[in-house]
Amino acid sequence: MQEIQLAAEHMEELPESVDNGDYILLQGIASRICSFPPWLARQHILTLTDPGELVLDQFSGKGTALLEALGQNRVALGVDVAPDAFILSSAKTYPLTYPEVLETLARIYRLVDHGSSDHVLTGRLGSVTRQASIFYHPRTFRELRCFIEACLYLRKRTSGDRLRELRFVQAILLGLLHGHRNEALSLPCSHAYSMSPAYVRKKRLEDESRVRRGLKAKYPIAYRNLWECLESRALQICPSSSTVARIRSLCGRVWYGSALTFPKEPEFEGRVTLCLTSPPYLDRQRYAKDNWIRLWALGYDHRTVNRRMHGFISGSLSKYLDHLELVLLKTSRLLRVGGHLVLIVGDVKTDLKAKPIVNLGTEIVRRTRQMSRKYDDFHMVHLGTRRDDVPAGRRSSNSFWSSQAGTKIDRIVCFRRE
Ligand SMILES: C[S@@+](CC[C@H](N)C(=O)[O-])C[C@H]1O[C@@H](n2cnc3c(N)ncnc32)[C@H](O)[C@@H]1O
Repeated sequence: MQEIQLAAEHMEELPESVDNGDYILLQGIASRICSFPPWLARQHILTLTDPGELVLDQFSGKGTALLEALGQNRVALGVDVAPDAFILSSAKTYPLTYPEVLETLARIYRLVDHGSSDHVLTGRLGSVTRQASIFYHPRTFRELRCFIEACLYLRKRTSGDRLRELRFVQAILLGLLHGHRNEALSLPCSHAYSMSPAYVRKKRLEDESRVRRGLKAKYPIAYRNLWECLESRALQICPSSSTVARIRSLCGRVWYGSALTFPKEPEFEGRVTLCLTSPPYLDRQRYAKDNWIRLWALGYDHRTVNRRMHGFISGSLSKYLDHLELVLLKTSRLLRVGGHLVLIVGDVKTDLKAKPIVNLGTEIVRRTRQMSRKYDDFHMVHLGTRRDDVPAGRRSSNSFWSSQAGTKIDRIVCFRRE
């Protein structure tokens, strides 16, 4: 099938970004592999919705589309099955001001201090803890474990706004766990994904030998004061109190769960104006494995999370499309007449040795044509597909868009609910 240039006139001239306060600072809270660039989400939101309307992303990842929707005064709804994605998406729908972060940190600090670290350190963090330890200076690692366990303790005992505040602070931590920045707690490493412990162990051994030969370590491990790093990062990413109040007043919501079972209630049927989302690209990305330190820091084992994700993330194209069919059917029910579904999907290999590369956009469009014949209540019309021309250097996950996985090309597939 030939690639169709998007015919709809409203997609031809996408508006430039609208300056709407300093919410954009929050997009930098953490990078996560395979997130889309904020401006791509913003352009679609501005083109296809009006203020006050509902924007849904049922594979919300780090919440890029949700924050862009809220930043532009739309109401954002998000879903993700990965706990780290849920925490980052939650932080973007319920941001805190810098003073509120300090208050929340003080609450956690009181628990760590008064409870004595032995009380807090219960060993709940499981077997991954030893692997995580090689990324940090021992003192930083002890502070980190106390902080994580204090958050787990509080998570069970808090609800409502207090719980949202805790999630925001956990989201700041997720952005500091590894990276290159001054505030990053780990040895210098990738910010977007958690590097493998075997690789880091090897690099540390190489460094020891370099240092013995009088050379500089490539992966130096320095003590970082966790609390200072959290505060300093909060200062960089927290928006002003007026932006925070505006975003919160829009009452965006995020669910921790699968797009396959969302929504459980008919509350949003026929009310969503835009569904803007990017489902997994078959199994080309292992979200749980690639975020293993972040999951550990939230009290989850990445292997368990991976099993939970298995339903959707599949190496089989037909299984993948079967799962997507369920999501598309629900989306058709959620969208109001005239509303749009914009899917961003890449061209991928079904496995690393596979040839040729599968154009997921074309496969999805073909499946929706079959769905129109199969279901009476599926009313999505394909408006067009355009190549996502984000230059390689501006993608947030360059390492993923490698020729190896076949994902050099992304496509924006647009449907309208008739
Ligand atoms: C391509 S990423 C989305 C990235 C997002 N657009 C962003 O800007 O961060 C796909 C997301 O789907 C999530 N996911 C995988 N299986 C899922 C499921 N069954 N239900 C909901 N989310 C799922 C992954 O955790 C991942 O965050």
